[in-house]
Order: sequence, then structure tokens, then C-alpha cells
Amino acid sequence: MTSLGDQLLGMELHNSVFESSVRKLPLPVCAVFGTAESLQAVSFTTSKQQLGTKDGDRVAQAFPQSVSASGNCVLSPCVSNPNTDQGKRVAVLFSGGPASGGHNVICGLKRILGEGNTLLGVRAGPKGLLKGNLAEITTEDVDAIINTGGFDLLGTDRTKIQSTEQFATVKAVCIKYKIDAIVIIGGDDSNTNAAALAEYLFRDVKPDGSGVQVIGVPKTIDGDLQIGDLLPISFGFDTATKIYGEMVGNILEDARSSLKYWHFIKLMGRSASHVTLEVALQTKPAFTLISEEVAKKKLSLGAIVEQICATIVARSKNGLNHGVVLIPEGVIEFIPEVRAMIDDLNQAILDNAEEFASLHTFAKSMFIRSKLSDANARLLSSLPDDIISVLMADRDAHDNLQVSLIPTEHLLADMVEARLKEIDPKFPFNSHCHFLGYEGRCGAPTHFDAAYAYNLGLTAGSLILDGRTGYMATVTGLDKGGTPRALPLTGLIDIERRHGKEEFVIEKALVKMDSPAMKFFLSRRDDWAADDLFTSPGPRQIWGPAADQQPISVALNQKSESLAFRIGPPRA
Ligand code: FBP
Repeated sequence: MTSLGDQLLGMELHNSVFESSVRKLPLPVCAVFGTAESLQAVSFTTSKQQLGTKDGDRVAQAFPQSVSASGNCVLSPCVSNPNTDQGKRVAVLFSGGPASGGHNVICGLKRILGEGNTLLGVRAGPKGLLKGNLAEITTEDVDAIINTGGFDLLGTDRTKIQSTEQFATVKAVCIKYKIDAIVIIGGDDSNTNAAALAEYLFRDVKPDGSGVQVIGVPKTIDGDLQIGDLLPISFGFDTATKIYGEMVGNILEDARSSLKYWHFIKLMGRSASHVTLEVALQTKPAFTLISEEVAKKKLSLGAIVEQICATIVARSKNGLNHGVVLIPEGVIEFIPEVRAMIDDLNQAILDNAEEFASLHTFAKSMFIRSKLSDANARLLSSLPDDIISVLMADRDAHDNLQVSLIPTEHLLADMVEARLKEIDPKFPFNSHCHFLGYEGRCGAPTHFDAAYAYNLGLTAGSLILDGRTGYMATVTGLDKGGTPRALPLTGLIDIERRHGKEEFVIEKALVKMDSPAMKFFLSRRDDWAADDLFTSPGPRQIWGPAADQQPISVALNQKSESLAFRIGPPRA
């Protein structure tokens, strides 16, 4: 019998009781992969379903080899592929922000590639690929990380691989390490880069004139990488929203218990409001902002504050001086006057890049104000210093404003308080502000994310063994057993104006006002505002009654019959 001290020592290094048990959790696989114990890779066939965007002709000119090989057609599984021992060397990397389930993609890849191929992990994301920072991933490695959160096996970063020079560096790394295929686990920007890399490495890399395959895997907690029923959601969204759902549920319970606080909670999810919508559907708070609605209705900052105040005043009349306001991380960019100011600002920074870069933050804002229109300069001056400093800060490698650093929750709480004081100096209002972001990205994956990500890994590995390049792995029908499929990356690409010039991009999927999930939310929100109809979804469950649930918004949008997800045959 070991002492308590020994038991505690034994739990170090990812060996908590939870971590040790969750590693043994069996993962279901889509029927075409056989069974969990006896996995088979699948081959694919070209389906009739063709993808394409409004800029398809220009995409075809820019990506001629990929488009002519795929015809932009979706691939469906056809037969199991016995030809797995191919001696292939496959490199895998994470790109962008972490999302729960990433380790399971690697486990799926490793297991489907089997002993007859080598899986190499690229450390620290795309930057590590450029540096040739690779090490073999062993069976012991994947056994240790299965069903664990985070990207810590390899790490990640946001380097954008887009210049010809960078492509040539990757090619040299592929030649040096004899790489046959690269799997990029990333979001919209990273999959755009994957498409460009696939085109560049299409042929003439190896001595026999063949190329290096590139396959993307859809990852991001933001939920903005989704394509109808072909890609119901990216992995990571479910875990993040269930973690936030639990925390918001706890805060709602506190609000209802303390009876005196309004909580302003900003939720991560850069641009689109999928995360906020999902958490609202899970918890039913009094007020939820949806950025896409703000943009559609052209709501000004003042109008948003009026709406929140109206809810607070109405609830107060019913004796409810407490509640929760959910705020999507990116809302500030969707407020028309702020959007116009940010666009003006971005252009001014671009036009004066050198001079701007040489200044410190305060001087930057003074300098740039002189370059803006009067209205935009006035708006910039009216914002608090902490917001101005984020607007002046460097964009990330993908030119994104670092919205997670903008304290919108404080801005709104302050403005609401000031407005309520104007309405009635004695109005009972106390607020607390929260930002739920990083705590949601690396938790142990929900059963949904664990199983989905694992099957994405099996799909990506199968695509490689089937000789495919320039595709994104997907699993469709997540409530009907799951079917591995592949989407031609070039069929997803559009042209967007970024940083003053046109760029090929996979557009972020925003919340659609007429989607079933949004419509359901709209049909319920007035009742949630009027009374406490809160729900506390509780901690995410890996085992037990709530373990097999898909995200509510996904179930609604996919027109599922229930919240249940199912990969593999029906349970006995
Ligand atoms: P990805 O799109 O790369 O998955 O990242 C999503 C995200 O978590 C956003 O929700 C958030 O705005 C951003 O990353 C934060 O970025 P960083 O990790 O660089 O602070």
C-alpha cells in the first residue's frame, strides 16, 4: 500500500486521477474506419458536389495545379485502403491559437499511419517548420496525450507562411527531412496558407519529380470555420463553450443568490459571435450582444448602451436588480462608427508605416489622430486609454487586431452606469466585469471534441495514404455515425481586401441572422430578459448522461433531432 505522499508524487506530470482515467476512455470511430481495435484507412472518391466561391476564376488562375487536380470536388470515402505500409514520412503541426482536441488529431493520425509510416511532430508551429524543428512522434507519445487538452506536445505559433521565400524554405526542409506530407492543424488563415503551400509543393520536390502533400485540419474555438453540413464545426468549439457555459452558469447562480450584481462577461471568439451565441443558448442570460446583429442593425455604441439600460431598468421594475450581459470579444469591430474609424486608422497606419512604427504609444495616437477624418479622430479621442493602446498595438501575423486585449466589458459597464445615473441618480446598479478566454482553449476535450478530433486525424491520415493534397479533412453527420470526407481548399477561397491589398483567404463564417440557432435565440431572448430563466449547464462531462451532447447551436443548425452526437454504430 503506497502512502498518500507517494500517491501525490505519482500524480505529477499529467497523472492526476482524471488524466490517468481519461486516457483509457475508448473513442468511437466512423464505421468506414472499422473498429477502434482494428482500424483501417479509407480511400476516397470524387463526389459530384463541387465547391467554389464568387472569385473561383481568379482562384483557379492562382492555384492551377490544385484546382485542376481536384476539380474543386468534395471527396467521399469509397473503400478501405489496405495499402498503408508506404514508408511515408508525415510532418504535423499546430497553427494559431490552441483548441481542445488537438492531441487527439495527432493520435488519430499516428494510429492510422501505423508502423509502416513515420509521423514527425513540428515544434512551435509554422515557425518551427521554417526552422526544420522536427522530432518523431512515438506510440508512447500518443498513448500519453490521448484525450488531454492543450497543444503542449508540440506547441504552436501564428507565423504566416505566405512568401515565396518561406515556401522555398519549407521545400528545403521537406527535402532535408525527406517529408512526403504535411498536416496543418489550424483555423481559416492557417488553412489558407495550407492551400498556398499545397500549390507550391504540388510537384518537383522529390528526386522523382513528385511533390509533397498538404492536408488541413479544421481547428479553432471561435467556430468561424464551418461550411454548412460539410463542416458542421471546427474542433475545440464544444469544449471552450462548455467551459464558458459552466462558468457563466456559476456566475448566473451567484447573481441570483446575491441579488445585487450585474455581471458583464466578455467571451473569446475573435470576430464571429458563435461562442457567445452558444453560451447564451446554454445558459439563458438576461442580455446577449451578437456582433452580427449589431452590424446588421447598424447599432451605434450609444444605441447598444440604451438597449442594455432598457433591460436593466425593466428588470429592476420587476424587483430584479441583477443579471448577466454576454459580450462577444469582437463586438467593437462590428459597431459601424467604430468599424469606420478602425478602417481609417488601419489605412493611416499603412500609409505612414515607418514614421508610425518609430513612435511610442502616446505619440502614435497623437500622430494618427491628425491623419483621420474629424469624426474618426473625435471618436478615437473619446475612447479610454486602454482601448486606444490596443488600437495602436501591432496586429498579429495575420493582420488581425488583438481584440482579446480590448476591455469592451469595462467600456460597456462604465457607459451603462453613467447612463443609468442620468436616468436616476439613485438607480441601484453594481457591476463586475469578466473576460472568459484563455481558460477555455486548453481544457480536457469534451467527449464530442475528443471523438471528433480523433476521427479528423484518421481522415487526414487516410487522405495522405490515398495520395491526396490540397484538401481539408472533415467528418460530416456527427449525429448519424459520422462520415469522413475532404473539402478542396481552393473551393473555399475568396478574395478579400486586407492591409490595402487583395488577398486570397478562406472567409470567416459569421453568425447568420437567419440560421436556426440565431432564430431560436431571437425567439427566446425577451423571456430570458424579463425573468430569471437561467440554466446552469454544470461542468462538462466526459462520462455520464451529458457526455454525448453536441453544441446546441450546431444541433440546431444541422437540424439534428436531438442534442446527442454519435460517431460510429449506435450504442447497444
Ligand atoms: P485561432 O483562430 O487561431 O484558433 O485563435 C482563436 C483565438 O483564441 C481567438 O478567439 C482570440 O481572439 C485569439 O485566438 C487570441 O490570440 P492569442 O492566442 O494570440 O492571444
